[in-house]
Amino acid sequence: MERQIGEKQQKEKIYKVPSSFLKHAHINLKQYKKLYRYSIKNPNKFWAQQAEKFINWFSPWKKISTGSLKKHNMRWFVGGKLNACYNCIDRHLETHRNVAAIIWESDNGNESRTISYGELHEKVSRFANVLKKQGVKKGDRVCIYLPMIPEIIIAMLACARIGAIHSVVFGGFSAESLCTRILDAGCRLLITADFGARGGQYIPSKKNADKAIAKCPKVKKVIVVKHTGHPITMHRKRDIWYHEAMSEVDAKCPAVKMDANDPLFILYTSGSTGKPKGILHTIGGYLVFVAMSFKYIFDYHAGDTYWCTADLGWITGHSYLLYGPLLNGGTTLLFEGVPNYPSFSRYWEIIDKHQVNIFYTAPTAIRALRHEGDDWVKKTSRKSLKLLGSVGEPINPDVWEWYYNVVGNKRCPIVDTWWQTETGGILITPLPGATPLKPGSAAWPFFGIVPEIINEKSKLVKDNQSGRLVLKQAWPGLMKTIYGDKKRFVKTYFKEVPGKYLTGDSAYRDKKGYFWIIGRNDDVIKVSGHRIGTGEVESALLSVPAVSEAAVVAVPHEIKGQSIFAYVVKKSGAKSDALKKTLNNRVRQKIGPIATLQDVQWVKALPKTRSGKIMRRILRKIAVNEFDDLGDTSTLANPSVVDDLIAERKKYSAKIIKR
Ligand code: WTA
Repeated sequence: MERQIGEKQQKEKIYKVPSSFLKHAHINLKQYKKLYRYSIKNPNKFWAQQAEKFINWFSPWKKISTGSLKKHNMRWFVGGKLNACYNCIDRHLETHRNVAAIIWESDNGNESRTISYGELHEKVSRFANVLKKQGVKKGDRVCIYLPMIPEIIIAMLACARIGAIHSVVFGGFSAESLCTRILDAGCRLLITADFGARGGQYIPSKKNADKAIAKCPKVKKVIVVKHTGHPITMHRKRDIWYHEAMSEVDAKCPAVKMDANDPLFILYTSGSTGKPKGILHTIGGYLVFVAMSFKYIFDYHAGDTYWCTADLGWITGHSYLLYGPLLNGGTTLLFEGVPNYPSFSRYWEIIDKHQVNIFYTAPTAIRALRHEGDDWVKKTSRKSLKLLGSVGEPINPDVWEWYYNVVGNKRCPIVDTWWQTETGGILITPLPGATPLKPGSAAWPFFGIVPEIINEKSKLVKDNQSGRLVLKQAWPGLMKTIYGDKKRFVKTYFKEVPGKYLTGDSAYRDKKGYFWIIGRNDDVIKVSGHRIGTGEVESALLSVPAVSEAAVVAVPHEIKGQSIFAYVVKKSGAKSDALKKTLNNRVRQKIGPIATLQDVQWVKALPKTRSGKIMRRILRKIAVNEFDDLGDTSTLANPSVVDDLIAERKKYSAKIIKR
């Protein structure tokens, strides 16, 4: 897997820190270097200082940290007491009661709402009382399946206020995906809406929830937000209207004293194999890491309006739409819709409408908007912008340049932020006042982070050679475990390279210390920035009776970054076209529309090792018509299958062209 990176890539352009940032940034280059050195040499002292600066503790910790990565049992701020909701709202009240906490922008643009810290406090306290009235207690898991409306933030913070653990499920997931996640976390209560609205379409959230709950007997209550007002069926004994419940309780609800190492939330994400993993984050470490990384990486100053376009169903939404901004007393914009509705100018119009200063989005959205041409951007002002961000997948240098030149008018630095659901917050990134930028590189490690690139034998590789990205030193944002599956937690992240955290990504570092992320080196596919496990898609395909075997791989896609390509061995007699439709429907039903198949290739057999493992390396190459250099095929149990696969692929590609 090791690769020497070519000379061409070494001659990248470098963009200097703009003078506007040199004057006002929280951290300049000298400070970064000094503080970084300090943070990795004295992690305990460094993190204790940050914890005191960024978080309000009900009572102090007894130990800054215990355990080790080697034993995968790190704990932070042990014995400290705090409350996440209190830190996001209550402690800002004295100074921020009338400051906007949330600006909500509706899908169709006809409606926007501003919620001040004072109002948010009132609503969250009320909803916390609703939850209590329904019997939700500290440690209970609550599932949230809501569109991007203010109630999703209210629900998450209300859980945190009473010590319940929120498990947000992305509103675009299917009923089956929702059901699996409810069952795995053992949730007893679900919060949903009548419908969600996205790009002028209505998503039947309540209907999906009903379908999911039919198989979740432990869910006794469902709280329903009336959002679009379209008719739905309410189950008399089980379902409660949010607005009615809110009017029946008062707005006084003290924030519960929680332990720093109590769970804050579970968030499901895809891994290489099997079912999604419930990543569990704990309160103290997560909050400290997210609060301070938000302030420094986005160079947040009081009065800034910040917009992160990620859905709250993903970690970016948790850390940098909700917790990071609110912990800093910031104003966070919540957008219900999509970048191309009602027109391709929508994002830029929202920036102008609400005078957004800091904008954080994903390469897939940037690619899609760039594809439509510059006019959609240029007819808007975007003068309020001072910083741009990118997350979720590598951003190609050309796309980076477009983002910088056209969207940012050559004025705004871009922070290309690398991190994962598991890491809680951003780990590799430029700092806008400190880092000269190289388009396509996530630049340097954040405070307290020590990334390394190693080869298959766990030895460090030289500069410019690619390898596996691992993290050598613990930081407070790292997850605590996989909910209910400690074994998988240890096996996935800590077993192969003892003493280090294995990210699953491959990367290289150049001579100037810049990190270049290449992509996943496991079986995770990133479709439009969403993490999808090949195993999940394969199980969906195999659940169709006419399928005898299936393997999926990622293929490059101009807009989505990657898309899903399936190899399927069908049972004799199955009709190709009809089966293709069935397969796509099944994947959408089992996972959701984000997992739609790009293409299906019928094959006679799959390439397997003698132990029965599918050799995806070969399938990946054949999918993109790379038939030479397939690597070592001698360990295949059925080497002749490769010739068949190539012939089948050539025939299929030819057929596509003919059509
Ligand atoms: C990828 C999203 C390149 C990476 C926050 C990682 C990136 C996975 C970047 C985690 C980036 C994230 N450059 N690749 N700036 N950011 N990734 O859990 O492969 O949805 O392992 O977290 O996204 O995806 P997740």
